[in-house]
Amino acid sequence: MKNYAIVLAAGKGTRMKTELPKCAFPILKKPMIEYIVENIEKSEIDETVCVIGHQKEIFENLLSGRVEFAYQMEQLGTGHAVMATKEIMEKKRGTTIILLGDMPLIDAKVINKVIEYHQDRGNDLTVVTTSFEHPKGYGRIIRNEYGNIESIVEHRDCTDEQKKIKEVNTGIYVISNTTLFKELDNIKVNPGKGEYYLTDIVEIMKKDYTVGTFVLWDNQKVMGVNDLFSVSVAEKYLREQINIKHMLNGVSIINPETVTIGHNVFIESNVTIYPNTYITGNSVIKTGSSIGPNTEIHNSTVDEDVTVKHSLVYDSTIHSGTVIGPFAHLRNGAEIGSNNRIGNFVEVKNSKTGDETKAAHLAYIGDAQTGKNVNFGCGSITVNYDGVNKNRTTIGDDVFIGCNTNLIAPIEVGDNVFIAAGSTVTKNIPKGALAIARNKQINKADYAKNLIRPKDE
Ligand code: UD1
Ligand code: MG
Repeated sequence: MKNYAIVLAAGKGTRMKTELPKCAFPILKKPMIEYIVENIEKSEIDETVCVIGHQKEIFENLLSGRVEFAYQMEQLGTGHAVMATKEIMEKKRGTTIILLGDMPLIDAKVINKVIEYHQDRGNDLTVVTTSFEHPKGYGRIIRNEYGNIESIVEHRDCTDEQKKIKEVNTGIYVISNTTLFKELDNIKVNPGKGEYYLTDIVEIMKKDYTVGTFVLWDNQKVMGVNDLFSVSVAEKYLREQINIKHMLNGVSIINPETVTIGHNVFIESNVTIYPNTYITGNSVIKTGSSIGPNTEIHNSTVDEDVTVKHSLVYDSTIHSGTVIGPFAHLRNGAEIGSNNRIGNFVEVKNSKTGDETKAAHLAYIGDAQTGKNVNFGCGSITVNYDGVNKNRTTIGDDVFIGCNTNLIAPIEVGDNVFIAAGSTVTKNIPKGALAIARNKQINKADYAKNLIRPKDE
């Protein structure tokens, strides 16, 4: 017999107050719904139906090929959402787990465990519950004097006494698929909210069936995300989990609560990460490197023994032994050679630098390729844009570029060239040449007094 999952994600998420539907809202740059679907894929579920409705195209794009879709175009409650799967699910034989799309912290282990528990116990319906110190917003679990579950009462329908109950409905239910579709029709519209509450199935089934609970101790795993505050709580939890994993792998993270590392980042041991640092996308950081403080690295590779501080690095590669920052910006396919120094207020875009190259302060290197051991003086610039096209600059090995040099691209500079400070270079420079492209200085003897006003005037 197969195991099925139904994931409810059709709602707008009114309490979020965001344009994006709640279950597509990103947590650590990943849409909420993907967390649950990824964990279902890792679990022993054979088939998954996702109920979508509000802005359904977003979910179709995210999940097509991975789940089957059922459509609930008018969101009349969680019970109504499950009814929307009737056509797809009704004829199937097996066990169905119902999950909510707004529980991103659930993991595959919990999914497997509750299904196993349900089957071992021979329950007809198993409700997964947990406890929260501040259970506001959750449906409360009402138990009778023998401790058996009687019903679930939504927060808004609770009496003051019931509001004190800390045990809550996680929104996860396990049920035989045939029973589900037999009993679902008995759910009546809730008079208070005008919705069909799935939670009512407990009270309906408890008369003729065995209804049990699975009590989960780790309440964080099943927290429901309903507003942007709970997004931040979930994000904090995920951030912590990721950071712990890296720290146990030998990555030293200083003030880890200020460091955000994405899901697909790979970091070798013996790396140090300083505060206020974001490493995201498909980034790789190799051993011996030191990243941060105040640094963003996205979709980039950092080789061994690199230092990056107070800098932004997007879609770029940094080879070993290089020092980046403070306040450097690498982007759009920058590839920095080994043992470079890219310092204060230097931007490198779509350019490749050879080993031992230095641009220590205030330079722009765009659409360029440099050889080895090139020195960019302070204020030197590859003038890559002529107002219409982007043009390339090519620089050979062992070149010295004096301060405030403009290299007007397209241009080629040969090996062993020396460019005098303040030059605006418009023509190619052959190998070994000294290029001076600036006005000659004139010194007019004794003339300054005509321009300097006496102090008492
Ligand atoms: C729900 C439960 C509550 C439980 C809590 C756990 C009900 C009535 N309440 O409340 O007992 O403690 O989850 O987090 O079930 N959805 C649809 N269609 C709808 C309505 C909702 O697909 O018509 C989806 C939403 O997109 C969401 C999920 O169902 O992913 C839960 O809906 P939400 O409004 O967040 O329910 P809660 O108020 O959190
Ligand atoms: Mg919710």
